[in-house]
Amino acid sequence: MLSVDVSKAASFLPLPYEEALRPMLAKASGWLQNGGGKGSDFIGWVRLPEDYDKEEFARIEAAAAKIRKDSAALVVIGIGGSYLGARGVIECLCSPNYNLKKKDGPNIYFIGNGLSSAALREVYELAEDRDFSVNVISKSGTTTEPAVAFRFFKALLEKKYGKEGAAKRIYATTDRARGALKSLADAEGYETFVVPDDVGGRYSVLTAVGLLPIAAAGVDIKALMAGAADMMQLCRTGDYSNPAWQYAALRNELYRKGRKVELLACFEPSFRFMAEWWKQLYGESEGKDERGIFPASVDFTADLHSMGQYIQQGERMLMETVVRFEPDDDQMIVPRDEADGDGLNFLAGRTLHEINTQAMDGTLLAHVEGGVPNMIVRAGKRDARTLGELIYFFEYACGLSGYVLGVNPFDQPGVEAYKKNMFALLGKPGYEAMGDELRAKLAR
Ligand code: PA5
Repeated sequence: MLSVDVSKAASFLPLPYEEALRPMLAKASGWLQNGGGKGSDFIGWVRLPEDYDKEEFARIEAAAAKIRKDSAALVVIGIGGSYLGARGVIECLCSPNYNLKKKDGPNIYFIGNGLSSAALREVYELAEDRDFSVNVISKSGTTTEPAVAFRFFKALLEKKYGKEGAAKRIYATTDRARGALKSLADAEGYETFVVPDDVGGRYSVLTAVGLLPIAAAGVDIKALMAGAADMMQLCRTGDYSNPAWQYAALRNELYRKGRKVELLACFEPSFRFMAEWWKQLYGESEGKDERGIFPASVDFTADLHSMGQYIQQGERMLMETVVRFEPDDDQMIVPRDEADGDGLNFLAGRTLHEINTQAMDGTLLAHVEGGVPNMIVRAGKRDARTLGELIYFFEYACGLSGYVLGVNPFDQPGVEAYKKNMFALLGKPGYEAMGDELRAKLAR
């Protein structure tokens, strides 16, 4: 089971902070478990690992099996919380090179997460000559980026398979009743999956939002949910034996002492998109009211050769959280070379994990020595169950941490600002006056 090692971070804090924070954490725990805190309409994810729609779960598994059978590619259209979790889990468990590997399942392409013409064209061309399906994901059903991408892929599917054939290959994950995507899906007869009302986008990876693409990649989603359920039990604990309490308390206290940036690090490159998911989770939950830790991420050891200099000796506003997995079973072993021209025979016979572990420990000691508090999240093997634990742990700790910080961890009012400006500049009906005003500002 996942645990948090605070020993290389707590020493940066002169006073015992746990006691001071205990009442606030107890209150925050109560708000997550029973409501009553800010944004409590959006705490449906807290019980999700046991309290989910079992009938829908079976439909997700059936849809994934159908996609794996009839599609060489699955195009996943979504942005933010409607995409990062699925991509994180798939890359972490199936590899960032998943699409290049020999496998039983479809290639998976993520699009609708931006407005780049080149990115859209590339996925369009990768999909057009093969049998493919589309999973369009948008809780609101009105987000511009995925809606624009969906237009292209809907038209392509209809051209390839006819309207009826296309409808059998489009899976829409959206609100139960509202939004343009829901209306379109009902009108066209797409199979639909629900983003529950009380689960916000960045907390939705364990709903159909994440589960359908993850299952289509061949990941055992029952194991994912089981891991999350185990962590849910642990997170119910209202004291410091709860790893989410330990993490939330420590990062808040370090923030108060001037550590404004948290780096999430991992020594497995396949973790990169899990870190992207984590950045959205924490950045969108805590960055408001002119407060909040800035979440950033690094891939080690690669980034030790780029960001390592700054981490070691730059401005001391950093804290670091390192996710460590237990070793994969299938280890590469460094071969012996009789000539030993590179002088590496001292490593011959050792597994890459053994070497990576020394890199982790060496980095830990160096960064702590350099003045960067380090928290270690010790996770199990890189499998579905472990990722379920990790996802729930980070979500729960985020809810606690946001409440301790004093913000609403479940809204994102700031995201609207760019959207309004973009609509006004694009001339969306109703935004005309604002468009004139913004154009004048740009011309100044
Ligand atoms: O966490 C959130 O709420 C956001 O990041 C959303 O997931 C993102 O803006 C996409 O929204 P939607 O799913 O409504 O298209």
